[in-house]
Amino acid sequence: MDIERIHFQQHGDHGGQLVSLEQERNVPFEIRRVYYIFATQPDVHRGRHAHRHLRQLAVAVRGSVTVLLDDGTGPVEVVLDDPSQGLLLGDMVWRELYGFSADCVLMVLADQFYDPADYITDYDEFLREANGYRRMEGAVA
Ligand code: TYD
Repeated sequence: MDIERIHFQQHGDHGGQLVSLEQERNVPFEIRRVYYIFATQPDVHRGRHAHRHLRQLAVAVRGSVTVLLDDGTGPVEVVLDDPSQGLLLGDMVWRELYGFSADCVLMVLADQFYDPADYITDYDEFLREANGYRRMEGAVA
């Protein structure tokens, strides 16, 4: 599955901690967009979509959230609860977000501007496209 956990260098001392994110250095793409999710209501589920062409890096800068990821071969659950770690997501990964702590602030860096046409919001349509995508990837490998 096109996902990876990235551990950022932490610059810490008695005054606190600092993490720096830099394009093409510890963020492996050109950063075109940053958005963040906060003030989520209890028991809310977000996401429930995939993107055809989008790389994203998600960091729980505060609190925690569970992310379900699925490339069409079955789901994997990942907990984000550490501001010194990021979750890198590639193309064609179905994601659902839930279990937000009340204080959660989830920051996401993306390599593309917001484009509603890039969303796949129907899971069956995602499976159809993901199966074709994996066949294509296999053909060029
Ligand atoms: P959405 O992607 O549906 O959020 P989630 O998957 O976390 O539930 O986006 C929620 C709303 O915010 C929707 O109206 C689109 C808007 N939005 C933007 O305007 N720009 C963005 O970069 C993103 C991610 C969403």
